Amino acid sequence: MRFFLDTANLDELRAGASWGILDGCTTNPSLIAKEGIPIAERIRQITEIVDGDISAEVVATDCEGMLKEGRPLAAIHKNIVVKVPLTRDGIKACSIFSKEGIRVNVTLCFSAGQAILAAKAGAYFVSPFVGRVDDTGWDGIQLIRDICGIYKNYGFSTQVLSASLRTVNHVIDSAKAGAHVGTMPFKVMNSLFDHPLTDRGLEQFLKDHAKAFQPPAR
Ligand code: E4P
Repeated sequence: MRFFLDTANLDELRAGASWGILDGCTTNPSLIAKEGIPIAERIRQITEIVDGDISAEVVATDCEGMLKEGRPLAAIHKNIVVKVPLTRDGIKACSIFSKEGIRVNVTLCFSAGQAILAAKAGAYFVSPFVGRVDDTGWDGIQLIRDICGIYKNYGFSTQVLSASLRTVNHVIDSAKAGAHVGTMPFKVMNSLFDHPLTDRGLEQFLKDHAKAFQPPAR
């Protein structure tokens, strides 16, 4: 499973990259707005930190507008994946981008039927929103399982990017369900490291080592 950070914050991306486990990054208009830096500039900065796929989302809602915004974003760097919403115009734009060799992440996916449309349009990624599905009382992880199963049945090459992950268990369960990628906020990636038995075990190892090898205090 590839690990992406779901952020446009450079400090968080630098920290994730420094651990050597960061495979890419996803952004969306809300995350870009939070940073207050125009998208093209921020995406260019991210390419200097992240060595992997970087999703840059369009804000146009019509196909022509998406194409006009997406092409220059794709030209920023070879790692850019243009992100479009799962609407009729988004799927149409995805088909055109795919034929042009521009990789697309189809976002705001909330059903397996929508995910089939994205795959048929040649999407590189489809992004089902686990946390937001859970919020509605449905099962976000079951959606990941369903999409992975359907893609396998038909040999679709679209990768399932499990998005809107809010907890460590969302990450683990997405991996169990077969998601190719998990994109998560920095807080969730940071929490993956933690286990009380790791802390307790390390403390004991160091205590035993010190007892055996440190000279007794006078
Ligand atoms: C990423 O591609 C999505 O835009 C993001 O994961 C949505 O997450 P949220 O539901 O926490 O806003």
